[in-house]
Amino acid sequence: MAEGSTWGVEPIGPLRGDVTVRGSKNAITKHMVAALLSDTPSVISNAPEIGDVDITAQMLRALGVVVRVEADKICVEPPVIGGSRVPLEFTGLNRIPILLVGPLLHRVGEAFVPMVGGDRIGTRPVDFHVEALRQLGAEVEQTPEGLEAKAVKLRGARIRLPFPSVMATETILLTAVLAEGRTIIENAAIEPEVIELALFLQRMGAHLELRPDRRFIIEGVETLTGANHRLNGDRIEAFSYLVAGLMTGGEVRVHGCPQGRLITAIATLQGMGATFEITDDWLLAKADGPLKTAVVDTDTHPGFMTDWQSPLVVLFTQAEGMSVLHETVFENRFNYVDALRAMGAEAELYNNCLGSRPCRFRETSALHSIVVRGRTQLRGANITVPDVRGGFAYVIAAAAADGPSTLRDVHHLERGYHRPLEAFAGLGLHINRVA
Ligand code: UD1
Repeated sequence: MAEGSTWGVEPIGPLRGDVTVRGSKNAITKHMVAALLSDTPSVISNAPEIGDVDITAQMLRALGVVVRVEADKICVEPPVIGGSRVPLEFTGLNRIPILLVGPLLHRVGEAFVPMVGGDRIGTRPVDFHVEALRQLGAEVEQTPEGLEAKAVKLRGARIRLPFPSVMATETILLTAVLAEGRTIIENAAIEPEVIELALFLQRMGAHLELRPDRRFIIEGVETLTGANHRLNGDRIEAFSYLVAGLMTGGEVRVHGCPQGRLITAIATLQGMGATFEITDDWLLAKADGPLKTAVVDTDTHPGFMTDWQSPLVVLFTQAEGMSVLHETVFENRFNYVDALRAMGAEAELYNNCLGSRPCRFRETSALHSIVVRGRTQLRGANITVPDVRGGFAYVIAAAAADGPSTLRDVHHLERGYHRPLEAFAGLGLHINRVA
């Protein structure tokens, strides 16, 4: 979708109905990259129709890889890789180029990837990736345009991540599976999407295991074979729609996301007074009385996910009293709060660690804790969407407001959510695209 697109949101009262989520945004693109590690095709199904998939498909095609998208199936055919340089036009569009370095080094011996982008929710450096690639034997140079890398032979290494970074763990997995010898990742991320990628690599023939103490042990193999995988449902979308129901006093049934991916989200919402019906196929959340306050720290898995933070903060505006959210993963993830205040929310940001334990940002000036006082009747407003997760939080807020809202720059949102207008229409909320 084009930059600058705008939605008009007209609240209708409680949102009720069913939503089916597709495979997760944070898994699909990584599987597409993993497919490059073999010269035989891979097929990934239950793929969401999101901007990030289009961008990644175009990036792979620019490297001479055939990518076919047929309904919810993405077929990646990389018998030969026609280039090693991701064109500069992909600068800043998403964070996927950095993951291509390892596979390109294995297939072509060199790689250039432009500066990565993604949401502006912190400084988001790539130093863990660069350091890990160097430890695995790559020569990596950071230039103003991006990363230049080359390697004659990649070799296993013992790598300790300073923080369990999701994509740095994925960079190492994608590089180590074909490197010579053993790689050990200490302090690895174990988010469900990382495990899903590791399982896909295992399906391709990789030798890897996960130890109980956040350690991956990978024995490099000579070759991998293309594989098929049906993606698990997106836990960020699932949570967002459950909150949209609670926020408006309605009830939403979400299909397609396994309960296990939502264990902490469910517990948090139950603590606020929500009740759940859960089956093997769907989850439904509703609240029979007023919502209660909560104190929540975001964390790495299995903690409360940072991407669930903005819908939860919006929900805090409907709980009776003071709620606290302490963001411990990204130092700048409250850029949506000003607009929420303009909609009437009573919210204050602090640089202190206001949750249950101090975090890495405790002695910085980063405003990484928020106190919200509810309950507030939100007002409709004209808002510019800052990023994918903040954008969705505004839609939820706008659905509960007392009048219409206009959301500009919704292309951020469509980068990460599968057909959101259809999903909301299924819940009774009609959103109009404004010319
Ligand atoms: C991924 C997800 C994002 C999610 C995040 C945390 C994708 C496409 N995005 O982002 O939705 O919110 O995990 O679950 O999967 N860090 C460094 N140096 C590095 C790498 C990371 O300092 O080289 C820091 C980051 O600044 C941040 C922390 O590590 O403070 C965690 O970030 P990370 O887990 O790497 O997030 P992403 O993988 O970029």
